[in-house]
Amino acid sequence: MPPEDRVVSGQQRKVERDNVALRPERLADVLGQDRVRENLSIIIEAAAARGEAIDHILFYGPPGLGKTSLAYVIANEAQGNIRITAGPAIERAGDLAAILTHLKEGDILFIDEVHRLGKAVEEILYPAMEDFVLDIVIGKGPAAKTLRLNLPRFTVIGATTRLALLAGPLRDRFGARFRLDFYELPAMEGIVVRAADLLNVEISQEAAAEIARRARGTPRVGLRLLRRVRDFAEARADGVVTLEVTREALALMEIDHLGLDDVDRRLLRIIIEKYSGGPVGLDTLAAAISEDRATIMDVYEPYLIQLGFIDRTPRGRTCTEHAYRHLDIVFPEADDEGQQRLL
Ligand SMILES: Nc1ncnc2c1ncn2[C@@H]1O[C@H](COP(=O)(O)OP(=O)(O)OP(=O)(O)O)[C@@H](O)[C@H]1O
Ligand SMILES: [Mg+2]
Repeated sequence: MPPEDRVVSGQQRKVERDNVALRPERLADVLGQDRVRENLSIIIEAAAARGEAIDHILFYGPPGLGKTSLAYVIANEAQGNIRITAGPAIERAGDLAAILTHLKEGDILFIDEVHRLGKAVEEILYPAMEDFVLDIVIGKGPAAKTLRLNLPRFTVIGATTRLALLAGPLRDRFGARFRLDFYELPAMEGIVVRAADLLNVEISQEAAAEIARRARGTPRVGLRLLRRVRDFAEARADGVVTLEVTREALALMEIDHLGLDDVDRRLLRIIIEKYSGGPVGLDTLAAAISEDRATIMDVYEPYLIQLGFIDRTPRGRTCTEHAYRHLDIVFPEADDEGQQRLL
């Protein structure tokens, strides 16, 4: 069984099927990320003109911004087959060797969470990516022999939320590296409208804009909010997603006008109320809100940092005045300033 055949629950499978339907198929369907899109179209066209495989590509950035979707889009544009796997799924070097020997010319191998590949697996991947060869050791001890197999020209597309955790040599083997950023409002709005269209949801322009504003610049979040608002519209209204319905649904979900949810606000409140605004170490925070540190770093922090609510300092996280204002908490003035005002 190929290692990428993950076992998924019924619910998860449904979500994945939904996602597949909503994924952009061609570069032209991808909204936002203009710079990335333009660069990709050049890479794909140039490779096609030369009749070569596309250079290895690395996508990095916060979750839900479209790394997996872009891998599919590239495969569609290049008319190649795509094989999907993930760092933790490839446990042994032999697993990767099995995948590599089944690839065909021009195929794309998508490796999600590529920073989680094991050392032994990485060692196999390096020559495969660089020289398209696979070194197989046959036998053990002094009698062991190395057999070198030629591989077809293929393309690795790697995705990671943690560029810093990627081993230097692996990072260097990706000819093209793209950082995905949070989406701008117009693109987010377009994504919501397009998804509503595909899901047969009747939605007003203002409602789509409202969902986009609260989607934290993240398509996956926008699509999740859209589904929840649709549920609300069907259960509590006539199924049409209007601005009013959207606001009610989002209020019920405790998503505020910036898209922050209960966990975000708890995180800020703990820094402000328990630690006087910080700095607080990541582990302390994780324990305080019962989330693991990776989730805080990957999911919550990037957007709070983007909003300018949190600063990462060498001594820990601190909250800025913006965060106090958002939570309606008075920002403590520095002591000397306070004294100056007294004088
Ligand atoms: N540019 C886009 N245009 C339209 N829809 C998009 C776009 N980017 C992402 N989406 C939608 O957002 C959802 C999440 O995208 P995707 O799964 O590709 O994110 P990801 O970056 O791989 O996330 P993760 O890091 O969590 O794996 C998908 O269902 C996809 O339909
Ligand atoms: Mg993904």
